[in-house]
Amino acid sequence: MNLQLPYCFCFFLLLQLPFSTNGQAYKNVSLGSSLTAASGDLPWTSPSGEFAFGFQQVGDAGYLLAIWFYKIPERTIVWSADRNNLVQSGSTVQLTADGQLVLNYQSGTQIWTTPELGGSGAAYGAMLDTGNFVLAGQAGANLWQSFDQPTDTLLPTQNLNPGGELIAPYLEKNYLDGRFKLILQRDGNLVMYTIAYPLTASNAYWSTGTRGSGHQLIFNQSGLMYLVATNGTILEHVFSNQVSLQDFYLRATIDYDGVFRQYVYPKTASGGNMNWTTLPNSIPSNICLGSKTLVGSGVCGFNSYCTIGDDRRPSCSCLPGYTFLNQNDVRKGCKQMFISQDCSHPSQETDSFEIKDMLNTNFQHNDYEVLNSVDEDWCRQSCLSDCYCAVATFMDRQCWKKRGPLSNGVTDPIIIDKALMKVRKGNHTEELPQKKSAKKRDPSALIVTGSVLLGSSIFLIVLSLLGIYVFFTRRNRQKQKLIPQHHVMRDMNLQNFTYNELETATGGFDEELGRGAFGPVYKGVLGGEDKQIIAVKRHHVLDFAQEGLRHMLSFFLFFSMFTSSK
Ligand SMILES: *[C@@H]1O[C@H](CO)[C@@H](O)[C@H](O)[C@H]1NC(C)=O
Ligand SMILES: *[C@@H]1O[C@H](CO)[C@@H](O)[C@H](O)[C@H]1NC(C)=O
Ligand SMILES: *[C@@H]1O[C@H](CO)[C@@H](O)[C@H](O)[C@H]1NC(C)=O
Ligand SMILES: *[C@@H]1O[C@H](CO)[C@@H](O)[C@H](O)[C@H]1NC(C)=O
Ligand SMILES: *[C@@H]1O[C@H](CO)[C@@H](O)[C@H](O)[C@H]1NC(C)=O
Repeated sequence: MNLQLPYCFCFFLLLQLPFSTNGQAYKNVSLGSSLTAASGDLPWTSPSGEFAFGFQQVGDAGYLLAIWFYKIPERTIVWSADRNNLVQSGSTVQLTADGQLVLNYQSGTQIWTTPELGGSGAAYGAMLDTGNFVLAGQAGANLWQSFDQPTDTLLPTQNLNPGGELIAPYLEKNYLDGRFKLILQRDGNLVMYTIAYPLTASNAYWSTGTRGSGHQLIFNQSGLMYLVATNGTILEHVFSNQVSLQDFYLRATIDYDGVFRQYVYPKTASGGNMNWTTLPNSIPSNICLGSKTLVGSGVCGFNSYCTIGDDRRPSCSCLPGYTFLNQNDVRKGCKQMFISQDCSHPSQETDSFEIKDMLNTNFQHNDYEVLNSVDEDWCRQSCLSDCYCAVATFMDRQCWKKRGPLSNGVTDPIIIDKALMKVRKGNHTEELPQKKSAKKRDPSALIVTGSVLLGSSIFLIVLSLLGIYVFFTRRNRQKQKLIPQHHVMRDMNLQNFTYNELETATGGFDEELGRGAFGPVYKGVLGGEDKQIIAVKRHHVLDFAQEGLRHMLSFFLFFSMFTSSK
């Protein structure tokens, strides 16, 4: 970001030259005039040289068509045409022959234009000393002005009309549309909102409460800013700082942190600090307390909390046990650095968690349970043993249990609640790598499972082949020998029985006597004259296969346990 300063500085020195020599630099912008990004074209400047209209480089990302304070080294853009679309070098802005201001890519594709002006269009354009770029008609009347399309800044004499809005930049040096806006609603209320992508208004954090009466926000030449009714009555003073515009540059900007501030910059070195300084009474005076969002994270990101510094600027910090998602964009919020409580055994895990006290802290609109007439220790224990509880706040014998992701976090002396943050004990940074290494072991487990499956399927194939072999050899044997009558065989103490005979003898394998290695043994009675009692052991190829498989699996499991423990 420091790279910007030398650039601005050289640019400034370079461009100071024309003004110091004569007033020639200022002229009306005539139809057909154009500027090209990165061509070294001088911008169109105001008569005093205090404001310029042209291209401003934004880092390496591209160029903005902008208006800026031309005489000060700190680049201060007060207006831009389409700040969400930076253009590349070679892009042009032209006041066309038919009186429209048009921004084109080098390819000729149109990116932005002034609205249809009607009639014969503008006769000329001009950068005025107020910081207003105007397109004027033949008679000199303003047909279009940049003051009517503000970006994030108002300048003295620039008023905000119903429907007009200022959108904060994303970050201090990032000019994209940001997360906060100020709007004079058509209903007359002047409101500040947090906005969620893609720029839908979500929640108000400040307002004048002038619905039905507010008409225009005036920023007058004394530096005062106030809201007036249709009849001109002042309804509300927004800024009451008197500033001499002869001695100071003045602007009112909604900053990336959501605060609307007035800034001054001395016009001469004798004016003091040669830098932008904030005037007292920014709006709102404490943005941390203003946030009442029902949805969204509030002024800071999720799982963070807002505090106002001595300089009255809000800062966002992560809760204990949490860390920023992006160090360079802290309003993106924070992520949890410890493993959450196990909901199947929350009480078993109670000892693994502890409570970090945060005085004067609350998180609005995160509650899922409230317990009345309890003491603080009860509140602690209740949160510790409840896996849903991310934090509990305790105040006046009331315990409010809150769920994550936590929003609207704020620490401020005027808050009397005490927040009891639940975090896992021990070193948070060490918890997560452990979880990762547990995941890392998964592939080797897969290999083991795979080899078991592979091994058993090979075994099954071998077994099936064996089964088929046994089946066919037995069938062949049965075909070769014609089975003799079993009566004959009985005398020889060797007898063949058919399956059906055995089924009948055992009453359908009804009475199990016991279990052998490869299957159950049943009691049966032979159908002969002597009603001989027999024991029938039932085993077939499948039983054999199952048994073998079981042995094989236990072998593989044993084998894999052995290898993984190594
Ligand atoms: C700009 O153009 C208008 C209208 O043609 C004219 O009245 C005015 O004097 C011009 N200003 C300058 C500084 O040339
Ligand atoms: C001007 O308008 C405001 C709000 O609409 C009203 O309260 C006030 O009485 C009006 N004043 C006059 C002088 O009409
Ligand atoms: C600005 O507004 C204040 C309050 O209405 C008024 O006192 C002051 O004279 C105004 N200044 C100018 C230059 O109009
Ligand atoms: C001016 O203020 C900005 C922001 O407060 C700061 O970053 C910068 O260093 C200051 N410049 C000088 C010359 O004091
Ligand atoms: C946590 O672990 C990290 C790295 O192992 C170490 O740098 C840090 O000091 C530890 N913090 C605490 C509070 O033990």
